[in-house]
Amino acid sequence: MSRALVELQNLKVTFPTPQGRVAVVDDVSISLEEGKVLALVGESGCGKSMTALALMRLVPKPGRIEDGSGIRFNDIDVPTLSVPEMRALRGNEMSMIFQDSMTSLNPVVRVGDQVVEAIRLHERISYDAARKRVLELFERVGIPDPEQRFSTYPHLLSGGLKQRVMISMAVATRPRLLIADEPTTALDVTVQAQILELLRELKRELGTTILLITHDLAVVNELADHVVVMYAGKVVEQAERRTLLTSARHPYTEGLLGAIPQRGERGKGLNEIEGVVPPPDEWPAGCRFSSRCNQLFAPCRDNAPPEVSFGEGHVAWCHALDKGAGS
Ligand SMILES: Nc1ncnc2c1ncn2[C@@H]1O[C@H](COP(=O)(O)OP(=O)(O)OP(=O)(O)O)[C@@H](O)[C@H]1O
Ligand SMILES: [Mg+2]
Repeated sequence: MSRALVELQNLKVTFPTPQGRVAVVDDVSISLEEGKVLALVGESGCGKSMTALALMRLVPKPGRIEDGSGIRFNDIDVPTLSVPEMRALRGNEMSMIFQDSMTSLNPVVRVGDQVVEAIRLHERISYDAARKRVLELFERVGIPDPEQRFSTYPHLLSGGLKQRVMISMAVATRPRLLIADEPTTALDVTVQAQILELLRELKRELGTTILLITHDLAVVNELADHVVVMYAGKVVEQAERRTLLTSARHPYTEGLLGAIPQRGERGKGLNEIEGVVPPPDEWPAGCRFSSRCNQLFAPCRDNAPPEVSFGEGHVAWCHALDKGAGS
């Protein structure tokens, strides 16, 4: 068994509300093995991005990582690092393709130079050496005519090419961990497939460990080794990809799987989960999914759901799955 590169233990991230601080990431424990792809899935507002930002120590104010949150990367205790240490770790060993990455390129700097700057922020190498590296990177991520694209401004690139530039930037320092937050969401289907193939190559050829954030279970199927499903700040189920996609147990995961459009069907699936994730200050006291669950029974509204294990790392948190409960 390979070792864990990332270990989150009881991670808690809070934001202030008129009712006091609420945990938008609540007691999340996740382990990510070196060289694997872990997918974090769930609907909008479930805390996927906040979990990743906490790992990078980039939670925006007034959000805060609460004391007692365990964040380990490569056996380093991340919360205790100084700001310069954290900055070095972020550039060299872990990097992130942000959810709004396409808008985060500087519009007035040539794209090649933006990647050069990213490299030279973390490594003492000459401009020419960095430029050479960028041209190689552009080639490897499938940017045609790298020499010419190097000198292009972002607005002249298609969405797919911009995303490839962002990926070049994120992997330029050969990080051990790449966090990809919805890397294909804004792209059309053909380009989506190409970007997923690129991520697969990075994993295979460089051994990059990937934390993949997506709401799209088709993307999970393409790329993930392990899947963690989040709902309203909590992990509700986790398992190996195949198990999760074929034998999900949690009513929420079942709902997500039921919402995948079938072949020939247009738009959303027939069995879409009704309603939306409520805002954090309205999350139910017991099981947070209780307000939308179709398998609701007595303890769900008031009591936190128990952990139920199905073996081989397949775990779900749900009253209905707890054998002894309700019988
Ligand atoms: N700046 C903020 N102030 C207050 N609450 C916030 C802030 N940013 C995020 N939140 C809350 O934190 C929760 C988790 O947000 P997060 O961005 O992690 O969700 P997500 O799962 O990544 O969703 P999406 O799929 O839409 O990206 C959300 O419910 C959101 O309301
Ligand atoms: Mg997000």
